[in-house]
Amino acid sequence: MSEKIHELISEKDVAAKIAELGAQISKDYEGEDIYMLCILKGGVFFMTELAKHVTVPVSLDFMSVSSYGSQTRSSGNVRIIKDLDTPIEGKNVLVVEDIIDTGRTLAYLLENLQQRKPKSLKLCTLLDKPEQRVTDVDVDYVGFQIPDKFVVGYGLDYDQHYRNLPYIGVVEFDEE
Ligand code: IMP
Ligand code: MG
Repeated sequence: MSEKIHELISEKDVAAKIAELGAQISKDYEGEDIYMLCILKGGVFFMTELAKHVTVPVSLDFMSVSSYGSQTRSSGNVRIIKDLDTPIEGKNVLVVEDIIDTGRTLAYLLENLQQRKPKSLKLCTLLDKPEQRVTDVDVDYVGFQIPDKFVVGYGLDYDQHYRNLPYIGVVEFDEE
């Protein structure tokens, strides 16, 4: 099997949207600090770019979770591979994700984080695929809503490839 990538959201449009999100977040958190929490590996390109557009004080941390499933869909059996470096009690945690699909990964993660008693807990995702949502997830900031297609680029992978594409592309699988 081989695949082709078709551009869905250009590099320019992604950059403009992230600047917009950064401005909104800066406004909403005025007078506060943000503990930005990136979900590895997909959220990393988005978080670094977003953080550059935030004008209130920002700390960065990373978590890595795996949710067993097929190559293109998560299962909800989430396991923490790398946890936070420090406690988040009393902090304004902003979770930064690449994409929300079924919502299973985030539902698990948000519940887990909530138990650590942050001052606030919000969620920012670059992409949202609402069609396959199976769990209610409260998303505070969304870059783009996209149709139910498998996408790569800007941190998102297919079998660990294409994360470094500067734009968002749809993967078209063709049998060969
Ligand atoms: P969820 O638990 O179904 O919401 O899945 C979320 C995770 O699945 C994301 O953080 C991604 O790692 C992965 N994922 C979901 N859809 C896509 C996609 O279209 N491309 C690449 N990864 C995806
Ligand atoms: Mg992810």
